[in-house]
Amino acid sequence: LAATDTSLPLHGQSVLVTAGGTRERLDPVRYLTNDSSGKMGYAIATAARDLGAQVTLISAPTALSVPAGVTYVGVDSAAAMRAALLQRYATAKIVVMAAAVADFRPAAVAENKIKKTATDYTLTLTKNADILAELGQLKQQQFLIGFAAETQNLLTYAQKKLAAKQADMIVANDVSQAQAGFNHDTNEVTILQPDQAPQQLALASKAVIAQQILQIALKQL
Ligand code: CTP
Ligand code: CA
Repeated sequence: LAATDTSLPLHGQSVLVTAGGTRERLDPVRYLTNDSSGKMGYAIATAARDLGAQVTLISAPTALSVPAGVTYVGVDSAAAMRAALLQRYATAKIVVMAAAVADFRPAAVAENKIKKTATDYTLTLTKNADILAELGQLKQQQFLIGFAAETQNLLTYAQKKLAAKQADMIVANDVSQAQAGFNHDTNEVTILQPDQAPQQLALASKAVIAQQILQIALKQL
């Protein structure tokens, strides 16, 4: 078992991984979400476990099964994911924000099912906290990894996120590509780190991409 092998590079270290698309509730039977499958986050949790880490997977609902040997914390909304992270952040060595966190939530959650109206219905959204940026501000020993999901200007936007969120690494992901991003078993990403040239990883399974991301992080620890 990886957790008991003291020779592994992340032996005894706490790794937090978020995954899945958050659900932002509107009423008892409806919510807003996104296309995230959770596959990339689950692959990272598995890879961290295999490096000997004590892994906590904080996940929005997915269709995936929890990797063996990983502690699972199920959450729904961005607010719940944020609370679960803040509770465990202080002692973490590596934190990976692979979740697709909703940027907005319905301004109010209706207690009862919203009835249809005769005409159009307007939904007001409130901004969610940027969890990664908050973790960046609270950062001490943690190595903080975020993702950037883009459909255009990949490296420009991702580089901005690296700086704005004070992350140690941004995994830039062109989610408009056929074999990459949301719901695929493969991915093609570029790794950005402060003061380093972008590192493009070739198209590979999410399992392999996860191992490569953690190997690059390990070099900085
Ligand atoms: N993220 C977060 N909290 C949010 C939104 C995003 O922690 N409320 C994290 C994601 O988990 C990801 C990173 O921030 O690791 C970038 O998410 P992304 O959606 O690509 O960027 P945003 O900063 O939300 O900007 P935009 O959606 O406008 O591109
Ligand atoms: Ca976003």
